[in-house]
Amino acid sequence: MKISASRSRHWLVFAIPTIALIGITAGCGGGSGSSTSSGLPLTKATLAQVTAGQAIVTGFGCTDCHNRGVDNTADTHWMAGYIGAAGGTGSGTYNIGPFQTYAANLTPDTTTGIGRYTDQQIYNALKFGLDPAATPDAVITSTTPGQGNFPATPHYLAPPMPWPAIRHMTDTQLWEIVAYLKHGIKAVNNPVPDSGAPPDFWASSYTTTAVGPVTIAPYPSGNEIYQP
Ligand code: HEC
Repeated sequence: MKISASRSRHWLVFAIPTIALIGITAGCGGGSGSSTSSGLPLTKATLAQVTAGQAIVTGFGCTDCHNRGVDNTADTHWMAGYIGAAGGTGSGTYNIGPFQTYAANLTPDTTTGIGRYTDQQIYNALKFGLDPAATPDAVITSTTPGQGNFPATPHYLAPPMPWPAIRHMTDTQLWEIVAYLKHGIKAVNNPVPDSGAPPDFWASSYTTTAVGPVTIAPYPSGNEIYQP
């Protein structure tokens, strides 16, 4: 399906008058709003979001896979994903059972990178693990398949993309990542092969038993104890 940018613009037009409501409803749904009224997702990415996103992307280890293990923004393929035999230190390709998977090009290139998708689709990839190429551009308000725009048959991102951990960042942090990748780095044209996938698009690999609950319980719970 061709996904047009106009849908997200419609959402923006709808969202701006409801900015006050978003603060009230945050936490009830899947999480798509922001605690601030400037910057993504309601207005254009701010420089503050972009620089905060840089700290997360370089600090979290996104580069282990998406930049061949090299944390250096001077790299000419910065965040361009798997680049094959010429890839240097890290491969960016993985054997997952019988499937070969490839670290995606996260630069804003509009033919080979995440420039093909809207900001909302990249947020949905980070928050819900949904493959942006197979998931409509929509604000998701439920984690139950078939409800609240969550796809009835979700196509999850292939392992080892660690979205089950990334989703626990705050909404503010997730939008900072989107701001940095989509609005803060240069586009690099680098076609990355499609990852292989099982018929359920990894759904059985991403059960709560396998990767933990959708939402981490408030502190302290489980095996946590506060001992200053
Ligand atoms: C251990 C390796 C690994 C790490 C670390 C990693 N990723 Fe990924 N990522 C992948 C792989 C592999 C894919 C491709 C998944 C697929 O093809 O279905 C991917 C896909 C993505 C996509 C979807 C892009 C698209 O075009 O489909 C986004 C967005 C993304 N990663 C962002 C991040 C961010 C942001 C971080 C750090 C916070 C990160 N990744 C860390 C391996 C990794």
